[in-house]
Amino acid sequence: METPLIRVKQLAYVRVEATDVASAEKFLQEFGLQVVERTNGQTYFRGTDAATPCYILSEGPGTVTTIAFEAESVEDLQTLSELPEASEIYSPNERYGGKIVRLTDPVGMSVEVVYGREALASMEAAPSHAFNMNGERHRVGELPAVAYGPSKVKRLGHLVLESADPEKLYDWYSCHFGLTKSDAVVLPDGSSQMIFSRLDRGEEYVDHHVIGFQFALDEGTRVQHLAFEVGNMDDLMSGHEFLKRRKYKNVWGVGRHLLGGQIFDYWKSPSGLIHEHWTDTDLLNNAHEPGDCKISEMRDYWGPEPTPAFLVSRWNFKVIKNLLRIVKARSSTAS
Ligand SMILES: [Fe+2]
Repeated sequence: METPLIRVKQLAYVRVEATDVASAEKFLQEFGLQVVERTNGQTYFRGTDAATPCYILSEGPGTVTTIAFEAESVEDLQTLSELPEASEIYSPNERYGGKIVRLTDPVGMSVEVVYGREALASMEAAPSHAFNMNGERHRVGELPAVAYGPSKVKRLGHLVLESADPEKLYDWYSCHFGLTKSDAVVLPDGSSQMIFSRLDRGEEYVDHHVIGFQFALDEGTRVQHLAFEVGNMDDLMSGHEFLKRRKYKNVWGVGRHLLGGQIFDYWKSPSGLIHEHWTDTDLLNNAHEPGDCKISEMRDYWGPEPTPAFLVSRWNFKVIKNLLRIVKARSSTAS
């Protein structure tokens, strides 16, 4: 891999539009995010971790309009601002301060790189308790600590970008921001169905993926899902039951992924954007050697198959063609 321009520190926030802001807000609160403020037509949401708001909602026809990374230094912003396609460094009209450089990725997604925002203090996280499992007894004379109601989202953890050419898109994010491949799911012709990329923080362990670059069955471009960490399995399952009672649409889960290792649970918002709860991710550092996984060998550790509503964002003839190609690849190489 060529030396990247900068190495980003973390995924910072997303800007999301919805035509019905009231129902989007209600969903996000029942999903487990918390409103920080409503100002200038935007609603700022946060998780319980110490950070600036991770989800900025406004009224509009789009879905995810911007993804944002936190930079290591103002010098890194300077480096990016010298690119012909980048904006100058500017200070946003938002009370969290900081400085931003804005770029546009090869499929037209707006990407903000931010430095110097002031973090909000952490909030009370989901309750947790010790376990009496695996032949060991750690919860003695105590009830399990489980809250009824929505999950408590900790933070924005990752997102998946769909496009017709995931390799090209991965190369751009890798060259600009230092994202590095953890694993890929490949088809028999060697093309990537999914590339999981993580932050490059050297020896420091980070989440298995921060961006997944996925081949879009309809060959369109979009953020296919946004994924948020919750505290533990009980918190994830409490949230699952709560969302089910509220009649939201579960599109995949609960299960445990093979690549990434997370326990996952995916839900569709009223505007059709998929939001994931996850807990217990694999952690990797620069000692990890990226590996390819044949699509025929892709099995989650446990859990149901994804629903069509998870797999297909928009139906067109390309979906049929690509689904047939993948089904054939899964069956022909499995034997
Ligand atoms: Fe995910």
